[in-house]
Amino acid sequence: EHSGRPEHMPSEHGASEHAASARSLTSLTADPDREADVSITLVARRQRFRLSTGRPVDGYTLNGTSPGPVIHATVGQLVQVRLVNESVPDGITLHWHGVDVPNAADGVAGVTQDAVGEGRSFTYRFVAGQAGTFWYHSHQVSHEQVRRGLLGALVVTPAARPPAGTADVVALLHLYDGARTINGREGDVRAEALPGERVRVRMINTENGQTSLWVGGAPFRLIAVDGTDLHEPAPVRDTAVTVTAGGRADIEVTMPEDGSPVRVHIGGPAGVVLGSRSYDVPAVPRPATSLDLLTYGTPAPLGFDPDRPDRRFDYVIGRRPGFLDGRPGIWWTINGHMFPDVPMFVVAEGDVVRVRIVNDSGEPHPMHLHGHHAVVLSRDGVRATGGPWWVDSLEVGAGESYDLAFVAGNPGIWMDHCHNLPHATEGLVAHLMYE
Ligand code: C2O
Ligand code: CU
Repeated sequence: EHSGRPEHMPSEHGASEHAASARSLTSLTADPDREADVSITLVARRQRFRLSTGRPVDGYTLNGTSPGPVIHATVGQLVQVRLVNESVPDGITLHWHGVDVPNAADGVAGVTQDAVGEGRSFTYRFVAGQAGTFWYHSHQVSHEQVRRGLLGALVVTPAARPPAGTADVVALLHLYDGARTINGREGDVRAEALPGERVRVRMINTENGQTSLWVGGAPFRLIAVDGTDLHEPAPVRDTAVTVTAGGRADIEVTMPEDGSPVRVHIGGPAGVVLGSRSYDVPAVPRPATSLDLLTYGTPAPLGFDPDRPDRRFDYVIGRRPGFLDGRPGIWWTINGHMFPDVPMFVVAEGDVVRVRIVNDSGEPHPMHLHGHHAVVLSRDGVRATGGPWWVDSLEVGAGESYDLAFVAGNPGIWMDHCHNLPHATEGLVAHLMYE
């Protein structure tokens, strides 16, 4: 019997039961006849592959590699991705993490589509509306499929070519069977950068916990978080930037005029080494100070008034003993309810929505909202005074509370869940629904 409730992450496995009925479908966009500007086919396979150190991984690939290819688009382009499941047993999807896509292209198995079974395909279409750093990953049995390699980077730029004197580097951090990699390699990634050149490094944290980025040998500016530019950020040095699980941080480094290389640490001693003649630059320890995004950057108008909301939601995360899909355990709760009995958060299009998120569960949770970006207004009652800090992924520490606001501008049913993906399997999932 159908309960009227969308299916949910803890039962994602169940979505593969429907795979037999999945045909090759095209998700809806405003103009179904428009020709794609960026068109790519991604073929997913179960595959044993080797990391750069020779370490074998029993995982999944997209077009033969993990991470899959970096997808590049410029703002306003129509991106079309045909996903083919050659040999992934549980079925697959692709979710465009941080991109406010139309609901039908959101890639959540059991909510916006059925999982794509072996031998099947599905085509995603969406317009790249915002320049920034994003990523894509499977949203079917995601705690397992993301870890084993069904993921990749998506970069949207304002113009097709970077302006002269600038360079652009992606640094996707991922753990394969405990091996920490950057762009699929263990150890450093090198990128050419000339003296005086400005380099944008786009860090993508695909791990289940927060990590950090820091720079040895040069000052830097944090210029974007979760695909959204900060307003007039000042240069810093000897400062670490923490990056939420699922989140992204883009920094800009100006290369020293004397030609010396710069090490951008990505989560540890390894990182992106920027240089031209030499790449010989020692690791430096993580600085003791971290950038506080509550105060970093320069205030700028939000475009709406968060103090006159149409809706207010409380989102209290706790945990208690109970049963989930028949399994006993100590499971997460939202407002005291255990999955799937968490009432939906209901909005109407155009609403200004205030959310107060309180973490009483004793553990940190990197919360991720699909289809929307929210602005951080305060943490533990302390108001944000920096540049607008927009997020799609936000680490809410144990005992912390955040006030957030967003405009409901993207109709559909959207997941809001913990991006420590095993936690989502343990029920830390809610949904936002448009009435
Ligand atoms: Cu990056 Cu619902 O996920
Ligand atoms: Cu969590």
